[in-house]
Amino acid sequence: MEINGQTRVAGLIGNPVIYSQSPAMHNAAFKHLNLPAVYLAFQVEEEQVPEAVQAVRALQMIGINVTVPHKEAVVPYLDQLDDTALKCGAVNTIVNQDGKLVGYNTDGLGFLDSLLEAGFYPLDKDVVILGAGGSARAVAVSLLDAQVRSLTLINRTVEKAEKLADVLAAPDKVRVMPLIQSSAPEIEGADLVINTLSVPFYSQDKWLLDLSAARGALFYDLRYGKMPSAFLDYAQTLGSPQLDGLGMLLHQGARAFTLFTGKKAPLEVMRQALLPSP
Ligand code: ATR
Repeated sequence: MEINGQTRVAGLIGNPVIYSQSPAMHNAAFKHLNLPAVYLAFQVEEEQVPEAVQAVRALQMIGINVTVPHKEAVVPYLDQLDDTALKCGAVNTIVNQDGKLVGYNTDGLGFLDSLLEAGFYPLDKDVVILGAGGSARAVAVSLLDAQVRSLTLINRTVEKAEKLADVLAAPDKVRVMPLIQSSAPEIEGADLVINTLSVPFYSQDKWLLDLSAARGALFYDLRYGKMPSAFLDYAQTLGSPQLDGLGMLLHQGARAFTLFTGKKAPLEVMRQALLPSP
């Protein structure tokens, strides 16, 4: 793909971004569809978030993705938010519509897409989420929209989980539990257990939590990467099926690509760009 005076820029802001796989995924898609566009990753410090968003307008960029830790910080600088971004209080995709910046959040829908692709249908299912941060909120919003039967939020800081339960505003479906090492019989029969914790599931020679009551469930770690996931290792010890976060990365990216370009995302091309080379 030739870069010339007509090439437009899309990108990613976050901190850090050097290990991000989004540039590989989006550039493969641009190239496949022969679009005059390039996607770059920009490391942005917290105090420069307003200027970085302003640059999308000033440089007439196509748009940007936003990753940790800026997904909430960008919100005040946008002209409009779509419903999901509003419900999540966070944005992972900003589209430049002729100078008007519109914020979207494709994380939750990307997560749902990855579940469906794995043959898991959330309707009437009992779901457990470990953690109560931004990722937990995005997946919780999408799962409630998909009409799960129940959502159990397990978190070290119970007040944070209670706050999340409040904003989810579905008191008949959402309950909160503390993260303690003893077995949690309340989660028996769960269909899906999602790990959003920012710490390894194993520390000081112990698993973080006894989830054996949920051994029949699908164990989904939102994280991905070269390092094996302790959470999925744990699922293995229970003999439970497992999924890592690569599918969510792919599908949130595919949805962002469509928002950027108005075109159907070349999913298999993007998937190939994410897979480690043999
Ligand atoms: P993200 O935006 O990616 O969801 P986050 O908002 O930083 O990340 O959330 C991190 C999650 O990991 C939180 O649920 C946090 O629990 P607290 O609310 O109690 O802070 C959890 N977490 C972080 N460190 C932890 C630790 N040492 N033990 C248990 N949970 C931890």
